[in-house]
Amino acid sequence: MQLERLLHSQGFGSRKECRALIRHGRIAIAGEEVDDPFVDLDPTGLVFSFDGEDWIYQAKAYLMLNKPAGYECSHQPKHHASIYSLLPPPLNGRGVQSLGRLDEDTTGLLLFSDDGQFIHAISSGKRKVPKTYRVTAKHPLGDEQIAALLAGVRLDDEPAPVAAAGCERLGEREILLTVTEGKYHQVKRMVAAIGNRVEALCRVAVGGLALPEDLAVGRWRWLSEDDLARLRA
Ligand code: URA
Repeated sequence: MQLERLLHSQGFGSRKECRALIRHGRIAIAGEEVDDPFVDLDPTGLVFSFDGEDWIYQAKAYLMLNKPAGYECSHQPKHHASIYSLLPPPLNGRGVQSLGRLDEDTTGLLLFSDDGQFIHAISSGKRKVPKTYRVTAKHPLGDEQIAALLAGVRLDDEPAPVAAAGCERLGEREILLTVTEGKYHQVKRMVAAIGNRVEALCRVAVGGLALPEDLAVGRWRWLSEDDLARLRA
């Protein structure tokens, strides 16, 4: 693949803009500046640097972000900053989208991709991919409340009760709650339905993929092949 086309595919701008980046000496491969936009390269596993920062060629982008509170999952946020402002420009340049949304005050694991089929497969309600949240409630959670979440609770506008796929106690006011749907404010509404209130919500896993402990809040990283397999498991 020609370098100009390769950079364009990775979100570094239009073909013309990428040509200019190359001609201005901002791209290097193996420490050597490359100033020919038309040099033909095998993209598989290619590492190049842009202004000294390393990038690995990715045919499709799959990544995770440890979402902080105070960010909206929208390109046109109304009251807070956009989660997309936490990603470097080339990722936005290639049009990555979040897989579903988290509320502005929810933290934790948020996935992004520019692979439409993958986005659909993981976020479609039909696939019932489990999503696990660490819930901190305002009031102590009784065993009967946990049992009610597992048995199913009534939510406004939902014809049938909605049940948690799992609910594990972590502390007096803390549970790990797993749901397989992606209904609007689902966890907060389920917890409200048992007469309690969510004080803090953190998504800790999607499918078999857990939020890595070493991914700092506000940071992103590529998904590995292992991560992708866990997600689909
Ligand atoms: N459920 C909620 O209520 N909020 C979220 O952000 C995610 C799940």
